[in-house]
Amino acid sequence: MSVLSVAGITAGYGRMDIIRDIDIDIPSGGRVALVGSNGAGKSTIVKTINGLIPARRGTISWDGREIGRTKASERTREGIATVPEGRLLFPECTVVENLVAASTFKRAKALRERTLEYVFDLFPRLSERAGQRAGTLSGGEQQMVTIGRALMTCPRLLILDEPSIGLAPRVVEEIFSVLGRLTETGLSLLLVEQNIQLSLRSVDYAYVLQRGELVKQGPSGALMDDPQVRAAYLGT
Ligand SMILES: Nc1ncnc2c1ncn2[C@@H]1O[C@H](COP(=O)(O)OP(=O)(O)OP(=O)(O)O)[C@@H](O)[C@H]1O
Ligand SMILES: [Mg+2]
Repeated sequence: MSVLSVAGITAGYGRMDIIRDIDIDIPSGGRVALVGSNGAGKSTIVKTINGLIPARRGTISWDGREIGRTKASERTREGIATVPEGRLLFPECTVVENLVAASTFKRAKALRERTLEYVFDLFPRLSERAGQRAGTLSGGEQQMVTIGRALMTCPRLLILDEPSIGLAPRVVEEIFSVLGRLTETGLSLLLVEQNIQLSLRSVDYAYVLQRGELVKQGPSGALMDDPQVRAAYLGT
């Protein structure tokens, strides 16, 4: 059973359609990647799924229910959380304040203490820096706070928009090893990345986006062995 099913969506800005006829399926508890190079339209798909921009055509189903016309805040409440591109957090607030501020919905509020413990268990470094202002953290630690903020909403689907960008390989390893643990609780993941090699190692199934259109999809193992994918993205 799919938790999220996107069918035939088209969206864009002004008069321009940026993404066209996109179909994406995320199984419950599944790990799915959306990969594509700079400017392919990945973030536009993310914003269409989380409700920041409207789909001009097509449907978005959540648990089999059409949510394409609901507000972004309603989708967060329903369990769709996004780790946005560029690590948006409150730089003047402490780590713990940033985390707590994300759990304002009724369901998330009730589970706040437990979720906070869970986030600190996933990222012990955040626990050590709980009282530190978020703006003074390293890039990797800020990414951990951003992921933590998304988790504080108690999501069922976590969308990560380019979590690896600008981070040292060692920090990327650290963050991705945590992502592997997240689905143990039944959470579904949509990993959005330019780094196709890293993505394919981290998910079960992937979609390849090129200039606003999906050009390939399949189990990550098959895509890794695909000669076209290898030539275009893996440099082999
Ligand atoms: N708010 C906006 N208004 C107008 N055009 C936009 C806007 N945001 C993005 N675009 C354009 O839409 C296209 C796709 O952008 P998008 O951010 O979805 O790509 P992306 O795959 O996420 O790229 P990146 O890897 O750089 O994050 C680009 O040509 C971009 O210039
Ligand atoms: Mg983007």
